[in-house]
Amino acid sequence: MLIQLKTKNPIASSEITDKKIYQQRRKFLKYSAYSLSTLTATSFMATAFASRTSRAKMAKVQASEWQVAKQEWTSYEDATSYNNYYEFGLGKDDPKANSQNFKPSPWSVTVEGEAEITGTFDLEDILSYQVLEERVYRFRCVEAWSMVIPWVGFSLAALLRRYQPTSKAKYVEFTTLYDPKQMPGQKRAVLDWPYVEGLRIDEAMHPLSLMVVGMYGEWLPNQNGAPLRLMVPWKYGFKNIKGIVKIRFTERQPKTTWNASAPNEYGFYANVNPKVDHPRWRQAKERRIGDPWYASKRKTLLFNGYAEEVAGLYSGMDLTKFF
Ligand code: MTE
Repeated sequence: MLIQLKTKNPIASSEITDKKIYQQRRKFLKYSAYSLSTLTATSFMATAFASRTSRAKMAKVQASEWQVAKQEWTSYEDATSYNNYYEFGLGKDDPKANSQNFKPSPWSVTVEGEAEITGTFDLEDILSYQVLEERVYRFRCVEAWSMVIPWVGFSLAALLRRYQPTSKAKYVEFTTLYDPKQMPGQKRAVLDWPYVEGLRIDEAMHPLSLMVVGMYGEWLPNQNGAPLRLMVPWKYGFKNIKGIVKIRFTERQPKTTWNASAPNEYGFYANVNPKVDHPRWRQAKERRIGDPWYASKRKTLLFNGYAEEVAGLYSGMDLTKFF
């Protein structure tokens, strides 16, 4: 079964959810919990991951429960066809068009650096130890657009703890697959490949930080970062690295792709902040994808609305300097 986690500052019902629809949805979730009661989330999902047939079955089970969701959240269509994934091209519709033959399975993740346990682990194994949860997060791109997406994933902290990071592990670095044959965008030097991102260890261990394997009750489509991506909802979208093949614990702040490419435009922290403008995009407001063309832009919230949960991570820091 999927566990729904509520944060202290949940997405306001006025923003996404009509109450009746919400109650209906709770009912759906209860039914689904009941019908899957003999299977744990992990065994169900891990088995589903192993074979395409059960993967399709899982999608079917979930799809029947998710019809209501389509009215509440950014539509599946928008969330899976308006993407940034430069490994598959620079246009918003390129990732979907160019990633259809990408193979997200089998997949393994290498763990390196300042940890007691290192090595290469099959994603199926990784999943078998994790409880999958559904979390509806606001998602804010530095290009000043936003979405609301029901992700399926597991706690990043729970994953990292399994490798027993040492006291020297102050940061965590994530790396995307490098495979220009499958990822044609990597044939062009628009970025320094492979894409890399990083978090301070306390950010990575924060309960909101999620490793994502699905969305809308289905496995991640290739264009959204299959089979494994990061979701740190209080940061700009570019921190949420896709197609992760490596996790490295480091003592020093790791290099990150966008920061290396334009350090005056993209910081390491990249916390959503309406008061700190990007040179090309004002950050005070955002366009919610799916809103009608005549709708006004929405006000951007500090830490994307998760300040109550995460502001403490940055106390004493000048957020205009550490942007
Ligand atoms: N990860 C990789 N490997 N390559 C990318 O180009 N783009 C980032 C991030 N993760 C990117 C990436 C940016 S700029 C954004 S806004 C989000 O992915 C977009 O995620 P979405 O396409 O699922 O909305």
